[in-house]
Amino acid sequence: MNKKFYITTPIYYVNDKPHIGHTYTTVVADALARFHRMIGDNTFFSAGTDEHGAKIETKAKEFGKKPKEFVDEVSAHFQFMWDELNISNDGFIRTTDEKHKEAVRNALLIMKQNGDIYLGKYKGLYCQGCEQFLHEKDLIDGLCPDHRVKPELLSEETYMFRMSNYSDVLLKKIESDELKIRPESRKNEILSFYKNEGLKDISFSRKNVKWGILLPWRASHTAYVWADAFLNYLTILGWNGIEGEFSSSYQKGDARRAEGVFWPPELQLMSKDILRVHATIWPAMLLSLGLPLPKQIFVHGFFMVDGHKMSKSIGNVIRPEELINKYGVDGTRYLLISSTTLGRDSDVSFNKFDEKFNADLANGLGNLTARSLALAIKMKKAGINPVKTKGSAEKINDKIFDHRVDLMWESFIRLLNNTEIDKALELVMVQVKFLDNYLTLTKPWEMEVDKSKYLGQVIYNVLERLRHIALMLWPFMPETAERIWYCLGLNPTDEMKKDFKKTREWGGLKIKTKIKKSSPLFPRI
Ligand code: MSP
Repeated sequence: MNKKFYITTPIYYVNDKPHIGHTYTTVVADALARFHRMIGDNTFFSAGTDEHGAKIETKAKEFGKKPKEFVDEVSAHFQFMWDELNISNDGFIRTTDEKHKEAVRNALLIMKQNGDIYLGKYKGLYCQGCEQFLHEKDLIDGLCPDHRVKPELLSEETYMFRMSNYSDVLLKKIESDELKIRPESRKNEILSFYKNEGLKDISFSRKNVKWGILLPWRASHTAYVWADAFLNYLTILGWNGIEGEFSSSYQKGDARRAEGVFWPPELQLMSKDILRVHATIWPAMLLSLGLPLPKQIFVHGFFMVDGHKMSKSIGNVIRPEELINKYGVDGTRYLLISSTTLGRDSDVSFNKFDEKFNADLANGLGNLTARSLALAIKMKKAGINPVKTKGSAEKINDKIFDHRVDLMWESFIRLLNNTEIDKALELVMVQVKFLDNYLTLTKPWEMEVDKSKYLGQVIYNVLERLRHIALMLWPFMPETAERIWYCLGLNPTDEMKKDFKKTREWGGLKIKTKIKKSSPLFPRI
């Protein structure tokens, strides 16, 4: 039986078009999803847009548009960008989808029937930017620390969610890693929040926000936008909002959804700004609904640009299209994933991107590929064909070149199973350097034809190693991997269909394979 792997990304607010922060989460999730598909896991990868709430209502007004018209446009732009970037999400959820709205209404009814939603009054400081109530002590100079605006004092009748019911249970589940929060430092941060403050009941409906899902029992209230948004992780799988029920009609053509086999997620990826709500309100809602909790929340850092917070007011927001225009789709994916250790903040700039692009991709991977293919073609013309080797160790000028690939694959798989995505990518780049060194030391272009058997072996080692590099690169840079396979005389579609355990063994490349020349993979900037 194949394992299942359900990975989620946050659904992004459509008050703004995607920037590299959103793109980073999505690209990292895509690489992980592709890896899990490659190793044969039954994988589902979710993406979508968060389209309700005061923030979006205000934004639509600014543009002189009706909210629906506005969210349609921005959501379409998100979907377009993810397509451009080769994102392989298995579904795209919009919180304005009728099926989603119906499920949210059902879910709220269940939570109410379970005694977790009651009528109350809420007075507090509300930040529209966060769509959250803030505590006085969280403010800096009276302003929201994230949005630098003064929160408004709200006092209104509201339906409350009895989150306090779940404080103790959740604390235990997080402590014991039943709900794993990683990196460890983020887990500790959440644990101290539980221990110091605990969960308090929160406002779950708004009277003055019209752009939202109407409460089924009180149409003058709309659902709290986060309550609506969290449920996307379930509704994208066809969940009805009726305890445990998944409907097959949600999106046609994907029977896997119908069984609800994917719930709960193995991994929920997000940035630190939304960890707190994901580690409190969200699991409390699931407990109220009687549904299993996600296995793991993984939190990454923030993107800074030239040492500054990325923000519209500073004017330093980088959009994915700027990167794609300059570095191509795979260049963009590479630069984002390798910009930091997953979990840490990263400080980027176009200068740094240029340097890394030239060093790792143009001079590194691109040059190696071009050199290897050109050499194989030249040898063939001289009558020297690849000679299959066993991929064993070889001594060249005192250096040992160990062509055995099993250990390398084990490390690669272990790193990715452990969400150490940048380390896994680094490992592939080390293989690129290894092969570059091998070529430099063996100097096959200087060897005489009478050593043709050895020459043939060197060529085979190079080409077969390149095949492995492409296979490892596929989750990160699918188009590049496929181009390399194509030049190695392989059909990319067939390669992906092959049994992974077999393709990652040494010797997959046939000696008669037809090598093709490639145009530069990554022209220098
Ligand atoms: N709509 C909510 C999420 C609901 S999920 C049930 C939301 N949307 S958002 O558009 O504001 O995006 C938040 C997410 O965008 C973060 O978790 C992160 O994935 C990404 N990022 C936004 N800005 C970022 C940076 N500057 N750097 C890195 N990622 C950041 O919150």
